[in-house]
Parts: sequence; structure tokens; C-alpha cells
Amino acid sequence: MNILHIDSSPRRQSHSRQLSAAVVEKLLEVAPGASVSRRDLGTEPLPHAVADYAVALSTPTTLSAPPKGSLDVSEALIQEVEAADVIVIGTPMHNFAIPSALKAWIDQILRVGRTMKSTPAGKVGMLRDRPVFIGVASGAIFSGERANQPDFLTPYLSLALSCIGLKTQQFLPLQATAFLDWNEAPLARKKVLAALDLSVVREPRGMRSGPAALPSTG
Ligand SMILES: Cc1cc2nc3c(=O)[nH]c(=O)nc-3n(C[C@H](O)[C@H](O)[C@H](O)COP(=O)(O)O)c2cc1C
Repeated sequence: MNILHIDSSPRRQSHSRQLSAAVVEKLLEVAPGASVSRRDLGTEPLPHAVADYAVALSTPTTLSAPPKGSLDVSEALIQEVEAADVIVIGTPMHNFAIPSALKAWIDQILRVGRTMKSTPAGKVGMLRDRPVFIGVASGAIFSGERANQPDFLTPYLSLALSCIGLKTQQFLPLQATAFLDWNEAPLARKKVLAALDLSVVREPRGMRSGPAALPSTG
């Protein structure tokens, strides 16, 4: 099993990084032979969509004959996703939404004709579905009765992933980090991870005992 572990906080000590790392740790407990690929968008940000890429994506004609090399970054990032059986994303909430570092990644992996089809009824995903676990850290509260701000992060990221075919998603939010001492973070994280459901993770065919669901560790 291949795990693609993505982080997008610019901070080295970061709640979303700790959350995503804890999910990877749980996955490795149930699949000790799994390999982990890293994509750290926080410490090694991708370039935002550059001119040639924007030209390539602008019309069906330019997409079928794109400027030389313009799709290379996109292609490499899509292949990373394709090679993964499970994806784990750590993301902060920045101004009610995902940070621009993660948006830059999305801009490369959502590509008509490669990861999604554009149809009159909307975008249709072309990638095989696989579980995506998303650890979210927010300074304040965006869900539940005590929410004091809108949440554009969850619906946006959910739509962006599902429109390329990644429909099996679990959002794990750690909220109110502005009021959380670092020494209290492990307990807060444990509470968030109690909702983690690993039963959606399956061993790829041909490995170990085949496609049986892995046990949930809670
Ligand atoms: C540029 C910026 C914008 C932020 N916007 C929000 C926000 O809209 N809502 C919120 O609850 N927290 C916001 N925060 C606080 C972060 O979500 C919070 O510090 C979180 O823990 C960051 O994730 P990390 O610990 O993984 O770095 C913002 C922080 C930054 C740096």
C-alpha cells in the first residue's frame, strides 16, 4: 500500500502537520508494510499556475497542443496521486479556506482531459477513487453550535477532490488552536482521531490477503 502524505502549513510546528502525521502513523499500524511518499507544500511550495500552463488550459485546442513542457509539473503531481492507495492531507484554515500552497497543488491536479471530463452535467472524475483523510487545523471554530465563522475550506476541498474521482473523504478538524497550548495538543488530537474510520482503507489486490478491509483502530 502506498500512502501519499501531503502537508500545507507553512509552520514547522503545526497542528495540521501533527494531525496528518498521526493519521499516517495509524495507517502504518494497520499496514506496517506500507510505503509513504511525501509532498510538503508548506516548506517546498509549488509555483502558482504560470503563463504557459494557463495558456495550455485555456481552450480545447491549446490543451491538445500545449506549449512544450507546460504540463510537466501537473503530470508529475497527478502521477503521485495515481500511485497512492491512500492520501493524507494536513491543511490549516487560512481566511476561511485552504492555504494558497494547497490551492497551487489543486490547480495542477485538476486538469480537464487528464483527471476530469467536462460534461454538460458538470465535471466527472477520471481517477480511481481512494480514501483521502484530511486533517484540518483552525485558529477559531467553523463547525458545530459554537461556530463563529463560515467554512469554505471543507466544501471547496471536498468538491475539488471529488470532481477528479476522489470521493471517499474524511475530514478531521482540530479547531480553536488559537486557545490551545502545545502541551494540550496531544489530547485534543486524540479526540479528533477518535472519529478516524480506517475501515475504508483496503489493501490493493495482489498484496497480503487481498482486498479485505483493514480493521478500524478508532
Ligand atoms: C494567513 C492566515 C489566515 C488565517 N485565517 C484563519 C481563519 O480564517 N479562520 C481560523 O479559524 N483560523 C485562521 N488562521 C489560524 C490558523 O488556522 C491556525 O493557526 C491553525 O492552527 C494553523 O494551522 P497549523 O497549526 O497547521 O499551522 C489563519 C492563520 C493564518 C496564518
